[in-house]
Amino acid sequence: MTSLYYHKHGGAAKKSYTDDGREVLDFSVNVSPIFPPIGTFSLEDFALQAYPSIDGRGIKEYYQEKFDLASSMVLSLNGAIEGIYLLPRALGLRRVLLLSPSFYEYERAARIAGAEIVFLPLDADNGFQLPGIEALADSLRHADAFFAANPNNPTGTEVPPEIFMALASRFPDKWFIIDEAFIQFTPEFPDNSLMDKVMALKNVIVVHSLTKFYALPGLRLGALIAHPEVIKRLLEFKEPWTVNAIAESVAVRLLQCSAYEESLRAMILSERPRISAALSLIEGLELAGGAANFFLAQWQRGCSLDELLVYLGTQGILVRDCRNFPGLEVEYFRFAVRTPFENNRFLDAMHEATDSLK
Ligand SMILES: Cc1ncc(COP(=O)(O)O)c(C=O)c1O
Repeated sequence: MTSLYYHKHGGAAKKSYTDDGREVLDFSVNVSPIFPPIGTFSLEDFALQAYPSIDGRGIKEYYQEKFDLASSMVLSLNGAIEGIYLLPRALGLRRVLLLSPSFYEYERAARIAGAEIVFLPLDADNGFQLPGIEALADSLRHADAFFAANPNNPTGTEVPPEIFMALASRFPDKWFIIDEAFIQFTPEFPDNSLMDKVMALKNVIVVHSLTKFYALPGLRLGALIAHPEVIKRLLEFKEPWTVNAIAESVAVRLLQCSAYEESLRAMILSERPRISAALSLIEGLELAGGAANFFLAQWQRGCSLDELLVYLGTQGILVRDCRNFPGLEVEYFRFAVRTPFENNRFLDAMHEATDSLK
């Protein structure tokens, strides 16, 4: 295991405050800064004395109703992470193509399942965009699966779904596993999702999460979306009852959150250009990505990123130090897009930092 696995988020579950009484704001975790209107409840509202459904029916219901997917196309998960670990094992993957940098758990899950990894390095000079389709096809020749996030974490870059569809048609004997954990934050959603393409493309599997967009990482909710025959195959390897009764019933309540979804997407959409415009005034700070609810940033102002992180810490701002990702060693960090008020505190702290850290 590399040290990456042990990297800690700056985040803390409980509220904390700076010495002068300001709330510490966590920009290191890419979850929604607002909470969906799922109502209030107590533990008695859930049938905790009974087993939940064996296959996470509440989560299936969410995907069926929200995205018009057949129940047989949905495998409910205890967070997307359960699917990320299930897939290499269940599909018997031997050689997996991964973007670098990307979410570390794909590598760990594939290695645990005994697969080799082939890395496709993303180039900082072209903003960490995917290479062209021929270069991708070339990298894929010796792999049996391509595991990629769209939008990618931590680069915040996105790829038109047509690229994956073209590759999946061209290589029907390879798996295309696309993690759409952050796709609900993009303005094009659901048009840019591959969820409704899996019936036509049996070798495409979508990993989806409900923990980021609905600010529920503590509850653990997600799904794999694939052709029913693929789901059947995956179920042969999956543990039963991994979705608990509370997660099942909250998933159904998410169907009542359309107004929340629209306002969250609108807020992220208007905050992104405002943030990038404000930060473009800082010389030596480069932003990348921003397709979803976070940016990757490179700090090259003479003083080290350590000094910036310490300064931001004194101002009650936590960001994600990304120097432990291959390719991001030279002073990269990531920050989430939060509410306008919170973003203002971040922007003020960044501008103050540039004045103080010479
Ligand atoms: C790209 C990506 N996919 C999946 C996950 C895990 O999602 P979940 O909370 O649904 O397990 C994360 C969490 O950080 C992530 O960054």
